[in-house]
Amino acid sequence: MVNEATRLGTAELIALEDKYGAHNYHPLPVVLSRGEGVFVWDVDGKQYFDFLSAYSAVNQGHCHPRIIEALKSQAEKLTLTSRAFYNDQLGIYEKFVTSYFGYDRVLPMNTGVEAVETAMKLCKKWGYKVKGIAQQDAKIIFATGNFHGRTQAIISASVDPGATADYGPYLPGIEIIPYNDLEALTDAVKDPNVAGFIVEPIQGEAGVFVPDANYLPEVRRICKAANVLFIADEVQTGIARTGRLLASCGNCSCEKSCENRYESRPDILILGKAMSGGVFPVSAVLADDEIMLTIKPGEHGSTFGGNPLACAVAIEALKVIEDEGLAENAMRLGEIFRERMQSLIAKTELVTLVRGKGLLNAIVINDDEDSHTAWDICVKLAENGLLAKPTHGNIIRFAPPLVMTEEQLHACCDIIEKVILTFDKAH
Ligand SMILES: Cc1ncc(COP(=O)(O)O)c(C=O)c1O
Repeated sequence: MVNEATRLGTAELIALEDKYGAHNYHPLPVVLSRGEGVFVWDVDGKQYFDFLSAYSAVNQGHCHPRIIEALKSQAEKLTLTSRAFYNDQLGIYEKFVTSYFGYDRVLPMNTGVEAVETAMKLCKKWGYKVKGIAQQDAKIIFATGNFHGRTQAIISASVDPGATADYGPYLPGIEIIPYNDLEALTDAVKDPNVAGFIVEPIQGEAGVFVPDANYLPEVRRICKAANVLFIADEVQTGIARTGRLLASCGNCSCEKSCENRYESRPDILILGKAMSGGVFPVSAVLADDEIMLTIKPGEHGSTFGGNPLACAVAIEALKVIEDEGLAENAMRLGEIFRERMQSLIAKTELVTLVRGKGLLNAIVINDDEDSHTAWDICVKLAENGLLAKPTHGNIIRFAPPLVMTEEQLHACCDIIEKVILTFDKAH
């Protein structure tokens, strides 16, 4: 079978990417041409459950009709003005998104990594202008195992050789402490030149590492006491993925951000991915006046950031999260998923651990990081109609769209169980 538009089949389309594209990714050999809800279809018409959701960007499901309608209707009117002029969508979006997440102001960007870069700059600016750090001395703390994107500045905070090798010299002013280690943070913030601590509430790319329950509230307390900004990168964990609107919401289950979550409220919140339901690159940095107003006109920006198309799409994407109760669905289905995977552990030695929150979960395969076992399992899963991808060799992340039904989830767990048990017997 062939792609109707191009008349090219799977092998030819893969060959094109291989010949003309940079080799900076290693995809599973599946060529997708259509998506709807929890499903995607390849060029041969084979249907798959999507268990990656474009790294948690498609929380609202593929091609959500309301989001696509918002995209189409705005695309026919105005797509881009740059920030040289006002547009009739940005202010409305800014009011909506700041009330949705409970911050004074938003700085709109496009990709996740740009939002993290923006937060780093904002943090330093605040460090110099408000905290009074001497010029060039500001430091930002990061955690081991972090993933915040791929720019030169951000990989300077990475400890993953795959991200850093041959990209030196790295950005100075960065200190790395162990993740989920409050003592290390307490020590690190004693340095008066520290302006902020950037951390993922759950480390997604690292393999879905969930910190201790008191970690985020304590991070906030320690940072506040030391006059250091607590900056949460919720690009992957945010927007209902972990069963709350934000992973930093802790146990508060209300729909929007609220006072109850102040025990772990970040000073700067970084969002991306599902801000648009995967339709368009939309990211955001949220903060209160004291921090956000340190940046003045001309000191930071982006041609596409805050474009009217992104604004219209993001408003609809966030409304869908609320209207369809996707945080609650993620919470409920996440529990069922982990229960099913726990029962699988009892049946095979191939899976050693399941961990996660909401619908951001991972299983650990009983093999070393350099083995192909997790990859081979993912290839078999694909053959059986479920798409997932290994991370760090022996971990498989499972993050389906949050619009999944309980029946569909059980069907997916049946596929995972069947594939792993068959794989176990065959090896
Ligand atoms: C926590 C986190 N931050 C930042 C990013 C970078 O986002 P983007 O790929 O949109 O630049 C990612 C991407 O996976 C992420 O998981």
